[in-house]
Amino acid sequence: MTTRLITNIGQLVTNDPERDGLLGLISNAAVLMEDEHIAWVGKATAAPDADSVTDAACHAVLPGFVDSHTHLLFGGDRANEFEARMAGKPYAAGGIRTTVASTREAPEDELRLRLAGLVRELAVQGTTTFEIKSGYGLDVDTEERLVRLAAEVTDEVTFLGAHVVPPEFQGRADEYVDLVIGPMLDACAPHARWIDVFCETGAFSTEQARRVLEAGAARGLGIRMHAGQLGKSDGVQLAVELGAASVDHCTALSDDDVRTLASSDTVCTLLPGVEFSTKQPYPNARRLFDAGVTIALASDCNPGSSFTSSMAFCIAVAVRDMGMTPTEAVWSATAGGAAALQRTDIGRIVVGARADLVELRAPSYLHLAYRPGVPLVERVWRGGELVS
Ligand code: NIG
Ligand code: FE
Repeated sequence: MTTRLITNIGQLVTNDPERDGLLGLISNAAVLMEDEHIAWVGKATAAPDADSVTDAACHAVLPGFVDSHTHLLFGGDRANEFEARMAGKPYAAGGIRTTVASTREAPEDELRLRLAGLVRELAVQGTTTFEIKSGYGLDVDTEERLVRLAAEVTDEVTFLGAHVVPPEFQGRADEYVDLVIGPMLDACAPHARWIDVFCETGAFSTEQARRVLEAGAARGLGIRMHAGQLGKSDGVQLAVELGAASVDHCTALSDDDVRTLASSDTVCTLLPGVEFSTKQPYPNARRLFDAGVTIALASDCNPGSSFTSSMAFCIAVAVRDMGMTPTEAVWSATAGGAAALQRTDIGRIVVGARADLVELRAPSYLHLAYRPGVPLVERVWRGGELVS
């Protein structure tokens, strides 16, 4: 057994519901890690001895970010599409097919190498848990390859065969759904924990989404959903009805959707990078918090609608443009993400949790929003190991 102490922490964000405030702050704190878990949390003056000691120089320390929504596996990029959007062209779901073409062409080793690069990018920015969706293969072999590669780097793998209808099934969406819930699900379910569907005009209808999600649930997969990105639909109602862990985007919501979410266990995951990169109106997080909805913030890192891997950036935008307080944004990017993945071992610095911590080169978590674009992450521990 190895013990490691981080001491002289100026401000510790614990997210411990037993402590005061949403973030359960402790000043002049220390944390003891025992192998991969947290063994003690408290005031530095009362800290136990340890095999090694790290001086956090009065910096802020918080739980590692939990990015509960990414699409990290793809070939090519769509920088040109982004450039056109900044010049006024609207975002449309159809762009996904461009990435499907490059992903199908990419050799497996190239996909693995690119994924490793992005995983490193996340780690140095303080993300210690991330989900990965498939969805740029849309045939049985490529979707299987994507979920298998994702499972090499995370336990949080989501099968998103129902991302859009691929070109070879154009005009035959229901037949494509048959493929998704038949042979594709057979090939992908063994590698995945979750099933997801893009329920939106230009992607899948609510009825098609129901077929996909029910088939996944029957195979033991948990439910997540993309809904309310480009317009209102009954996708949110379906997500709650089916007991989804999370419904993601939620930019366009009716009052009824907000009430339904508030009275459910389904987390609402907001993705600020999407509105930033598509120039669409931001969701109103204030309305959701005030109604009592549990909110997660995630990057949605993907080559089309949001090619950022920075949770700090998402926090800054959520505070600047979505009506979140810095406290709510930091909670949503850590404990909120853990809730969206139905995990109790991450997102909090409490005894027994996995030792995933981020030290900022700053005295307070406020600096995450206050100093946008500045790389503030000093050190990152994942499962008690220093990873950056
Ligand atoms: O979450 N909305 C659907 N899927 C992705 C976008 C993927 C793309 O444009 O390539 C999203 O925003
Ligand atoms: Fe997405």
